[in-house]
Amino acid sequence: MRLSQWNFSVDTGFYPLGSCTMKYNPKTNERQMALPGFARAHPLQPDHLSQGALRLMFELEHFLTEITGMAATSVQPAAGAHGELAGMLLFHAYHRSKGNRRNKILVPDTAHGTNPASAALCGYESIPVKSNSRGILDAETVAAAMDEETAGIMVTNPNTIGLFEENIREVVEVVHAKDGLVYGDGANMNAVMGIVDMGDIGIDVLHLNLHKTFTTPHGGGGPGAGPVCVSGKLEPFLPIPRIVKQGERFAFNYDAPQSIGKLQAFWGNMGVLIRAYSYILSMGGENLKKVSQMAVLNASYVKEQLKGTYHLAYDRPCMHECVLSDKHQQPQKVTTLDIVKRLMDYGFHPPTVYFPLVVPGAIMIEPTETESKETLDSFIEAMKAIAAEAEENPELLLEAPTTTKRRRLDETAAARKPCLRG
Ligand SMILES: Cc1ncc(COP(=O)(O)O)c(C=O)c1O
Repeated sequence: MRLSQWNFSVDTGFYPLGSCTMKYNPKTNERQMALPGFARAHPLQPDHLSQGALRLMFELEHFLTEITGMAATSVQPAAGAHGELAGMLLFHAYHRSKGNRRNKILVPDTAHGTNPASAALCGYESIPVKSNSRGILDAETVAAAMDEETAGIMVTNPNTIGLFEENIREVVEVVHAKDGLVYGDGANMNAVMGIVDMGDIGIDVLHLNLHKTFTTPHGGGGPGAGPVCVSGKLEPFLPIPRIVKQGERFAFNYDAPQSIGKLQAFWGNMGVLIRAYSYILSMGGENLKKVSQMAVLNASYVKEQLKGTYHLAYDRPCMHECVLSDKHQQPQKVTTLDIVKRLMDYGFHPPTVYFPLVVPGAIMIEPTETESKETLDSFIEAMKAIAAEAEENPELLLEAPTTTKRRRLDETAAARKPCLRG
């Protein structure tokens, strides 16, 4: 009992972990997931005894297709990175079907590390593409790198600096002109639900992180889900089995000769899929759009309140997160790490730090839509108080955290020689 409280939870504290969308996980999701018909279902039950589970997966695929504006979805991948791997396999299957020989993928310098890793797992060489001085991609830079040996590009939109890739349509045109494909990393969909139609923009494959946007729990390496949504031309390659509706019945269909095959021992992380389905139904379309509007409003409020105190990497309208840095605190020899360790003394979970790599000393704050103005204000106050401490008494920050059960860890030793017994 006490042990659970030495940890930090999104139910009890502000958890502004940029790029991770640590938002409140509604308890109704847990109740639906625990319904005996779902909780006691066995993955080897035949189709006719699994109609409820099949219907839920079928309908969830359709909801996600509609939310993203794509043509079809598979809920099979078990994480964002697994969705990326599925996407790269889809790229490969598409090019093979057309007799194209492609061995490279363009990956912007703002990408999450899993993007080049997923491309490499499929045997592609990642070619880095520089973002411009405004933190986004230029179509000209992409055009200079795009050739007929390149399978396509992976673009996160909004990107990991919390900025909307405004030139995405031009980027898509450049890549499609060479019969390349555009992968949309949709991990940041929380900012644009009901607002941006990814299919209309010309995205060919998009993964979603249900454990971020759709309020299913994550962290600590727990199970997630990274459904892949595709445009019409990639639908024949989706993983099998596809879930189909035949009259009033639902069934698994393995008859897809061009499919990339099966990605899981069974069908998907069912407990996660049920929670996401529950969230979508309990919210409805209009409220999902409001979620994104509120997520952007909250991040913009934090950015505007803190931009004089901390260096703001890109002084432009942000989406769901904003990126500050320790540049103003450097003369006091106070670093990003010291600042966020001190935040723990004020009762807040540290934001993501030193990522994205394009911003030295990055402090990446994603407040999410589920926090009140009062919470945001107390966080802002704490950040300002820490900046004042950095001026007046930097020692306080260098020693932080002082109120936690464990003080500052030797992070290298903690990673290399973990002691998991407390
Ligand atoms: C932009 C982006 N892409 C991909 C991923 C990978 O997702 P997952 O952690 O579910 O594998 C993340 C995770 O934080 C992300 O932020």
